[in-house]
Amino acid sequence: MSVPAIRVADVSKRFRLYHERNQSLKASVMRGRRARYEEFWALKDVTFDIPVGSTFGLIGENGSGKSTMLKCMARILRPDKGSISLEGKMSALLELGAGFHPELSGRENVYLNGAILGLSKKQLMSRFDEIVDFAGIEQFIDSPVKNYSSGMYVRLGFSVAINVDPDVLLIDEVLAVGDADFQRKCAEKIAEFRAQGKTIVIVSHSLPSVRTLCDEVALLEHGELRDLGPAPAVIDHYLADAFSDRSDEGGHPRWGSGEVRIEAAEIIDADGRSGARVRTGDPVTLRFHYVAKEPVANVMFGMAIETVAGAEVTGPNTRDGGLTCDRVVGKGFVDFRIPRLMLLGGTYDVTAAVYSADGLHPFDHVPHVLRFDVDQGDPHEENGIVSLGGTWEGEALRALGMRERAG
Ligand SMILES: Nc1ncnc2c1ncn2[C@@H]1O[C@H](COP(=O)(O)OP(=O)(O)O)[C@@H](O)[C@H]1O
Ligand SMILES: [Mg+2]
Repeated sequence: MSVPAIRVADVSKRFRLYHERNQSLKASVMRGRRARYEEFWALKDVTFDIPVGSTFGLIGENGSGKSTMLKCMARILRPDKGSISLEGKMSALLELGAGFHPELSGRENVYLNGAILGLSKKQLMSRFDEIVDFAGIEQFIDSPVKNYSSGMYVRLGFSVAINVDPDVLLIDEVLAVGDADFQRKCAEKIAEFRAQGKTIVIVSHSLPSVRTLCDEVALLEHGELRDLGPAPAVIDHYLADAFSDRSDEGGHPRWGSGEVRIEAAEIIDADGRSGARVRTGDPVTLRFHYVAKEPVANVMFGMAIETVAGAEVTGPNTRDGGLTCDRVVGKGFVDFRIPRLMLLGGTYDVTAAVYSADGLHPFDHVPHVLRFDVDQGDPHEENGIVSLGGTWEGEALRALGMRERAG
């Protein structure tokens, strides 16, 4: 095994909350005369390794200790117990404005920050234009940063952090602040870093971006490590825990905040019969019945089809279909119409989902809401899950007779 880029070993971090005012006599007696503060553990015995070259996500509710962990990695805070080792040159983009001096200009802050992050004056001079250009703040570079918008702060901070050419890059939340154009530039830069084999640690509340960007994820809860593993698995568990409706079937918990709920799903054949057996090649409709007690704006419907072994065959949604749903209220349904069912003979499970239009918030996610069987039809193929509807051609080929075909 190679040495990890970052090794977090039994890290605990304590803060003291000082009580200065409005103490009742009873409270101070209870605490004893000397205890003017309460101890509070923001991190408790957290252990994990981050492999070199991986992109690692830290997720968890507000106050769960993500920023504290990142500051410990950046050596801005010192753990009270345990240790953190970090291989290579580190650069950090922490909370908004951290590391900037408000009275100094953007230019002065670039030089100051660059120096702190280990760039020589010569290196800084040669990269200065690129830094300012990436941040897109040429006109403001000589104004004090206290006059900057939060977006400008973040752009400049990110630009400095990536231009010092670190081996390990730590990023806290901030990327969500910039506009779409800047976010795209950051995503490209992060992809470039990944390709160069650099190690990246990202704190973010945007689960979709953590899911796409990160290899592995750690979930913190009240300062403790709750879960650790591949990004999709940890995020799915987290969502399932955060929103689960435990009254549902054991192995496949339903989750979501419930403003819109999927009430039922049905499979409908060409003659409009519900629950009929269908065959490969048939026109089929999957219908999802929903209910929303109050009006809900900006909704996205989606579904997935899995084999009984759990392989996802397809997972379309209304957004990918080029549609928006500005408002739902009361009862209704949406249909997914399949002109020609290309699933081969077998049994399949359907998952239904209603999310906010940006895909961030689950209203209802119902694994295995419906199971259906497909009988052999046309195309008639034995192997695999789907037919691609392809045809064979070749000079040596001739058509089979009916009798040969059946054998
Ligand atoms: N300097 C500090 N002094 C006292 N408490 C702090 C300090 N920094 C963070 N905390 C507390 O530690 C907990 C974890 O904070 P933080 O790491 O910022 O969480 P997150 O980034 O996950 O939202 C919170 O309860 C927060 O109030
Ligand atoms: Mg934070």
